[in-house]
Amino acid sequence: MKVPGDKSISHRSIMLGSIARGTTVVRGFLRGEDNIATLGAFRTMGVTIRDEGEVILIDGRGLHGLEEPSDVIDCGNSGTSIRLISGLLAGQKFFSVLTGDQYLRRRPMKRILDPLGRMGAEIYGRMGGNLAPLAIVGGALNGITYESPISSAQVKSAILLAGLYASGETTVIEPHLSRDHSERMLRYFGADIEAMPNGATVRGGRELQAREVCVPGDISSAAFFIVAALLVPGSELLVRNVGVNRARTGIIDILSAMGGSLEMVDRREISGEPVADLLVRSSRLKGIEIGGELVPRAIDEFPVICVAAALAEGTTIIRDARELRVKETDRIAAMAANLRKIGVLVTETVDGMEIRGTDRFKGGEVDSFGDHRIAMSMLVAGLVADDAVTVNDVDCIATSFPNGAGNDPRKGLIIAIDGPSGAGKSTIARLLADRLDYLYLDTGAMFRTVALMVKRSGVSIDDESALAEVCNRVNISFARSRDGGYSVFSNGEDVSHAIRTSEISMFTSRISAVKTVRDILLRLQRKMGSAGGVVLEGRDIGTVVFPDADVKFFLSASAEERGKRRFLELSAKNEEITLQQTIAQVVQRDAQDEQREHAPLRKADDAVEIDTTSLSIGEVLTSMEGIVRERMA
Ligand code: S3P
Repeated sequence: MKVPGDKSISHRSIMLGSIARGTTVVRGFLRGEDNIATLGAFRTMGVTIRDEGEVILIDGRGLHGLEEPSDVIDCGNSGTSIRLISGLLAGQKFFSVLTGDQYLRRRPMKRILDPLGRMGAEIYGRMGGNLAPLAIVGGALNGITYESPISSAQVKSAILLAGLYASGETTVIEPHLSRDHSERMLRYFGADIEAMPNGATVRGGRELQAREVCVPGDISSAAFFIVAALLVPGSELLVRNVGVNRARTGIIDILSAMGGSLEMVDRREISGEPVADLLVRSSRLKGIEIGGELVPRAIDEFPVICVAAALAEGTTIIRDARELRVKETDRIAAMAANLRKIGVLVTETVDGMEIRGTDRFKGGEVDSFGDHRIAMSMLVAGLVADDAVTVNDVDCIATSFPNGAGNDPRKGLIIAIDGPSGAGKSTIARLLADRLDYLYLDTGAMFRTVALMVKRSGVSIDDESALAEVCNRVNISFARSRDGGYSVFSNGEDVSHAIRTSEISMFTSRISAVKTVRDILLRLQRKMGSAGGVVLEGRDIGTVVFPDADVKFFLSASAEERGKRRFLELSAKNEEITLQQTIAQVVQRDAQDEQREHAPLRKADDAVEIDTTSLSIGEVLTSMEGIVRERMA
């Protein structure tokens, strides 16, 4: 799977893009509510930001180009927005007011007001300057060296952003290094910045240059699925394209120390940030002690770490994590309350908690406390609970999963490929799906799976109602395996091999002639494909299954060529057959397909026909991919 873009990096791409010179292009931007709040803030300050779907384009106005906002800037639920933007606004020559929702207006702001005040900023807030709304009278700033009492990327970043406008050098030092996305992106945009093992120094006055930013998947969002895969027996999960900045991979170190099977594969660097794929296998976990430098490196993952700990063997002790009390909600209190409701023994401490592992969760009703990470963590607990875990108030999940958690609904196009046998449909469909990162919905395998289940059930092919009952119970899913192949699952069982025996092949042709079966399969194909992001191939996909498919192809080739391909395929398998015979088979199959009663083979009027007779697979693929990409755009 892939997870949505990194929230922290998405925020910073808008901020730096807005004050850079030139047009910044952002790919993989997270359109969560927090990031949209940041985007809105910069629009209010005169920045043109265009959302073009695949990319966000920011017409940067240079270091001193922001305009005084004519209204209060609403940061919603986003601590990162209000704190980082405050730092940036401290150095502007105008007045601005920042506020947020009821949760944000309860979170501490003194942590940024104090250091910014020392730089010469004039900022006012409720409760002696600790609570938003904040009123900022921007002006000249001087560089400082600030030893922060807490490891907080929001504090550090606010000061560094103010430092861009300050005279001289601005240095921030933290107890342990918090996420350094600001430092990395500032360097990437050409700022005069130097990183240190536990902080950074920036020199003010230098203009930034627009860049292209590719936002990696958010490891904090991946964390829920990682823990789910560890806890649900028999799981293997590959999460692609996840940001693995060392300041963020505490979750991997913690879960590995608990005995979790986690691997980072294919490490690479994109836009100044390390990225990798994460491979996870379900594991038996054991309790550990977590504290010190691991805390800032996993600061957002504690709610889901609590869930993992609650199902581990032994006790887990979390300490040095007082910061959790001032997140979107008090995450120590929230998780303690929620875990108790599902039967876990938890003791709260001032700066953490003790969780006694159990081997089962009972169901229960719990609260999100308006916090996306609490909501998601409790849903993960629900996956492995004896009874349902009901989470109240889950709208907040949109903060990190704007399209819903899990697979994006209707994330991509529906692509239909039809054509006669031997036209290369299944090879092409599979490769095209790979290129587009879509799912190849192998309809042939679906028929085979149903056949396997019918065969195993022993019901007679003539007993329509028994047959329908068996078919209706089949729950098919596909998963891409690491080697690029596909696995087919029936009710959770991997049947990839079982459906390929010659016995099942023969039974499949018999069963697929039965109308009840075809009808049920039709419904199933529609159900599995309607989410989009799929390539389907067959004989009636564009005409019957998905007459509204976004892109339809009809692959053809001369009977001789198709017979030849079939001949080569079969001789490779050492089957005794002649070229004449395979050509004859193809011709016969064409006649059957065109004349069959249900859904005869015909090209949909709006299908693009590609004659593959004298084309290589690569050539066919490239032209198809071009057509699809054009349609996407
Ligand atoms: C963030 C920093 C962290 C983190 C938050 C995002 C950032 O907050 O919890 O979700 O983007 O800088 P703190 O700096 O308050 O620890």
